Amino acid sequence: MGTRVLLRRVRADDEARFLELAEASEGLHRPWVRLPRSAGEFAAYLARFDQVTAVGMVVCPRDGGDLAGMVNINEIVRGSYQRGVLGYAAFLPHAGRGYMTEGVALAVRYAFDQLGLHRVEADIQPGNVESLRLAERLGFRREGFSPAYIKIDGTWRDHERWALTNES
Ligand SMILES: CC(C)(COP(=O)(O)OP(=O)(O)OC[C@H]1O[C@@H](n2cnc3c(N)ncnc32)[C@H](O)[C@@H]1OP(=O)(O)O)[C@@H](O)C(=O)NCCC(=O)NCCS
Repeated sequence: MGTRVLLRRVRADDEARFLELAEASEGLHRPWVRLPRSAGEFAAYLARFDQVTAVGMVVCPRDGGDLAGMVNINEIVRGSYQRGVLGYAAFLPHAGRGYMTEGVALAVRYAFDQLGLHRVEADIQPGNVESLRLAERLGFRREGFSPAYIKIDGTWRDHERWALTNES
């Protein structure tokens, strides 16, 4: 729980609102992320979150309870790595109000304090200024660049590799 938002697991009963907001936010999301666009895609999305290799969450403003955005911790690897990869996106009309900065910060704390991870990573396209700013604001450092790294909407896209490690 943060001062303005709470972070909770995404649930089956979020489907209708999640799909509505994802559709309304497509202009904001493209070409950076692709969220579920149908009931079938939403069910497959939920099924990914086994709480072992991936945790799916939503960011909810404390006043109102709507969904301001989503944050996932994906590709969790244990053993010598102890790391996860963040995915996040704001939903219109809640973008630009500071909710995602707080929500992603809560997800990082959850990854470190509750999941016991040592490292969280974020893969960000070079032109994605809002996401680069968010990562910098939260103290992520740029560690590298991977050409044609992730296929989004049918195209292999270059990504900068950002990360934050738990030094406590
Ligand atoms: C990246 C993304 C999640 C950022 O979401 P957002 O809702 O704009 O994030 P925030 O509102 O927390 O921060 C945006 C700005 O609002 C500011 N802000 C406005 N009101 C604020 C408030 N009350 N409190 C704190 N900050 C506030 C922040 O300081 C920040 O300013 P800056 O970027 O000019 O430095 C969003 O742009 C998005 O969904 N992009 C498409 C999907 C995407 O790219 N995902 C990441 C893939 S790597």
